[in-house]
Amino acid sequence: MDNQSVLLDDNTDKLPLVPLRDVVVFPYTMIPFVVGRRSSLLAVERALQGDKRIFLSTQRDAKIDDPKPEEINTIGTVANIVQSLKLPNGNIKLLVEGAARGRVQRLETVDGCLIACLTLIEIKAELTPEVETEMGKVVALFEKYVKLSPNMPYETMISTIRVSEPGRLTDTIAAHLQVGIEEKQSLLETFNPVERLGLLTTMLDGEIEKLRVDRRIHQRVKKQMEKAQKEYYLNEKMKAIQQELGRKDDKLNEMEELKQRVQSAKMPKEANEKALQELKRLEVMPPVSAEATVSRNYLDWLLSVPWHKRSREIRDLDFAEKVLNEDHYGLDKVKERIIEFLAVRRLVNHKTMKGSILCFVGPPGVGKTSLAQSIARATGRKFVRVSLGGVRDEAEIRGHRRTYIGAFPGQVIQMMKKAATKNPVFLLDEVDKMSMDFRGDPSSALLEVLDAEQNCSFLDHYLDTEFDLSQVMFICTANVLHPIPPALRDRMETLRLAGYTLLEKEVIARRFLLPKQLKNHGLDPKKFDLEDPAIRDVIEKYTREAGVRNLEREIASICRKLARRVVKEGNEFTFTVKSEHINEFLGVPRYRPPSSEKKPEIGVATGLAWTEVGGEILTTEATLMKGRGKLTLTGKLGDVMQESAQAALSYIRSRCGVLGIDDDFHRKFDIHIHVPEGAIPKDGPSAGITMATALASLLTKTPVRGDVAMTGEITLRGKVLPIGGVKEKVLAAHRLGVRTVILPRDNEKDLADVPDDVQKSLEFRLVETMDDVLQIALERESAPKVDKEYEKDLNKGLPGSITH
Ligand SMILES: Nc1ncnc2c1ncn2[C@@H]1O[C@H](COP(=O)(O)OP(=O)(O)O)[C@@H](O)[C@H]1O
Ligand SMILES: [Mg+2]
Repeated sequence: MDNQSVLLDDNTDKLPLVPLRDVVVFPYTMIPFVVGRRSSLLAVERALQGDKRIFLSTQRDAKIDDPKPEEINTIGTVANIVQSLKLPNGNIKLLVEGAARGRVQRLETVDGCLIACLTLIEIKAELTPEVETEMGKVVALFEKYVKLSPNMPYETMISTIRVSEPGRLTDTIAAHLQVGIEEKQSLLETFNPVERLGLLTTMLDGEIEKLRVDRRIHQRVKKQMEKAQKEYYLNEKMKAIQQELGRKDDKLNEMEELKQRVQSAKMPKEANEKALQELKRLEVMPPVSAEATVSRNYLDWLLSVPWHKRSREIRDLDFAEKVLNEDHYGLDKVKERIIEFLAVRRLVNHKTMKGSILCFVGPPGVGKTSLAQSIARATGRKFVRVSLGGVRDEAEIRGHRRTYIGAFPGQVIQMMKKAATKNPVFLLDEVDKMSMDFRGDPSSALLEVLDAEQNCSFLDHYLDTEFDLSQVMFICTANVLHPIPPALRDRMETLRLAGYTLLEKEVIARRFLLPKQLKNHGLDPKKFDLEDPAIRDVIEKYTREAGVRNLEREIASICRKLARRVVKEGNEFTFTVKSEHINEFLGVPRYRPPSSEKKPEIGVATGLAWTEVGGEILTTEATLMKGRGKLTLTGKLGDVMQESAQAALSYIRSRCGVLGIDDDFHRKFDIHIHVPEGAIPKDGPSAGITMATALASLLTKTPVRGDVAMTGEITLRGKVLPIGGVKEKVLAAHRLGVRTVILPRDNEKDLADVPDDVQKSLEFRLVETMDDVLQIALERESAPKVDKEYEKDLNKGLPGSITH
């Protein structure tokens, strides 16, 4: 022991002792622990009653519950009880602060607790420079130690570094050291702080080394694991690199191929530049990026539209005529116009030709689409078709800009790609069904497509370079003309297809539809047939249309059933469908065959209407009810039709005297006019005379002839004005078993379009005034006498009639 150490022998004390099991308490440190042994509890209680000082000494073997005096270390620490808390289980939780070392001189047992008679040991060291250096060393080591220890909070460092007194520093560090109890005890038993510094240095060195080894081992283990992972990762990367290298080759090949395609595409200058530019961009892009895909797609489109390729057109008009006749029956006028059109197109630069676009107008199933196909065949062009029904977005025609994700060209360019030639027949089907909304007006885009002066430089938003459409032969179809914007209509040469007569339908079915459907269903035409009466039955009992679309569908349905029988009964099966089989094939008839045996009725007149699906018959009913002259109209009548009902009523009222009607009727009665099949919207002025006839019949109580149908607009003064759709209406009248058709005189010229067989089987009465109408339509015997004065007034002759 050096000269600095002073043992204070007189410094003795008597304190209750608590043996500690696995902890060594050092002076200057706070420590919490729980006391549970009986003797210890008694000792704590005694201390709490006294000056709260207690002596803590570690027992040599932690496992012993009731240590004998010699099993307790004689060197311990005097501590102050800072806090005590009695736990519910009787134990006491203590927070103590070590004060000084003490050596037990003697142990007594008083009232069941141990009392230590002890000497306090307090040795102070002088702060010489060497001690200071030593302290610095220890602090540095301790810092290393803290850093290396996996579970030592760094704050412990800070609290120790600030300590400048060697005894206190060493004890604080000793308390924090995670070493065994014996080592700790040896630190406690080293009284001289300078000596403790030495001991701590060796201990810290050892601990640090241990920790280092630990860490090394840990890292080695980690490394081992990482190595395995690394190898895996590198392997994967290697694969990726190899793939990339491979791709590079692919890419080179691809670029080479694209370059060649660009060269051989013979694009116009502008497009060619676009393509080369895009190639350059593509070259520097990572081949699998989204960008590259977009770029590649674009190039693909650029390369796949027909810049150059064209079909060799057939210019022989005789051949064209032959083809048209081969594909379609009848339609003589239409075919003639088509041939003329082709001839003119040949002679005149079609760019300056007004109406350079054919437009077929007519009800469904009259052969508009198939005529266009025929024209393609007749002129040796490819055929492509776009349905404009429901197209409402300009982009559908002209494409989306490439900046949009998933953009692609519009229908026009798409179809040109499909045509693969720059001079196809391009059918724009159902132009009247195109609609417009906020997304822009598709018809303006269409206008550009159809304008021969503009379409040589058609700009699709996606393609983004001009494309020449000037060699395309555009053909449009529509059910009705009026929804087509006038500017578009101006460009067109309209050809009307009104519909077919029963006879025509029979021929079309026999010569075209049946052979086609038999072929489609793999049926040998030598083995299967439909007799003529069977065909007629299908037409009359299962269809009711201007065209032949449903007829073709029904024939297809028969063919399907025949095909089924063939499969069932074997290849030898043959069958001729007779009239009596039809029910079995097609089920219950949908329509009754037309009969002219309609009975004359009061207040019911038959009108002829014209709809998108062709001509129709509209029965008009009128009834009277008690009331005050209110006119009710039902059956979904449009504004024009309602007004024309008003006009009809006004006319009747003005003619009360002549017609022999009580001129007060409108004060006593309400009138209701109804046009059945109420769900179908109806409009137009052409039902005027029909409504007036129904009213006149009702008010004069004179029946209307059952076999008469009529169409015509009425004026307030009873004049009959011409109407449209004569051919369609007449065909419908014929189809539906009418005998006599009343038409405005001014429509006489339209009868020229009506097929001969129809003309022959119908009686046409051309009228100028409503009086003429009533004369014909109301049952003759009871027809009201026409007022001669009024007649003179109108200065018109007798109703004219032509009978064929
Ligand atoms: N005059 C005709 N001669 C032969 N077949 C016809 C005739 N008219 C129409 N067809 C046939 O009727 C079917 C319907 O014609 P389609 O061209 O689709 O009518 P649309 O386009 O007018 O609605 C097609 O199979 C067509 O070949
Ligand atoms: Mg069609």
